[in-house]
Amino acid sequence: MKKCYLITASALISMTLNAPAADGAASFTKDCAKCHGADGKGATVMGKKLKCKDMTVEKPGDAQIEKAIKEGVKDGDKVVMKAFKDLSDADVQALVKYIHTLK
Ligand code: HEC
Repeated sequence: MKKCYLITASALISMTLNAPAADGAASFTKDCAKCHGADGKGATVMGKKLKCKDMTVEKPGDAQIEKAIKEGVKDGDKVVMKAFKDLSDADVQALVKYIHTLK
């Protein structure tokens, strides 16, 4: 019986350790690239229409990126980027990191 608990416990521990890390590149491709472009330059059809700035030039800071993702972005009264409320904090942090790697 004891052995059985041990096996369960170690299985649980290895499951936690192997949990997939939040993948900033994948989230960016999935949620952000259609406007901001895979390279963050905003040169997509949507990006041009909505006047996305070039992230590699603007270089938004951590807090600015977090705010944009969690609260969305408005141009006056018009929402130009909706908030991504279903992204976890880990996803947001991974996106922040990823955006800083864009050149
Ligand atoms: C529907 C198109 C669209 C999508 C999808 C989108 N954005 Fe935006 N985003 C915009 C527009 C438009 C702006 C305002 C112009 C600008 O700053 O580039 C903006 C602005 C930003 C800014 C700058 C905010 C500021 O205060 O200057 C950041 C950072 C940002 N977006 C990150 C993201 C991230 C991360 C994602 C994916 C989770 C994403 N965006 C998805 C359209 C979009």
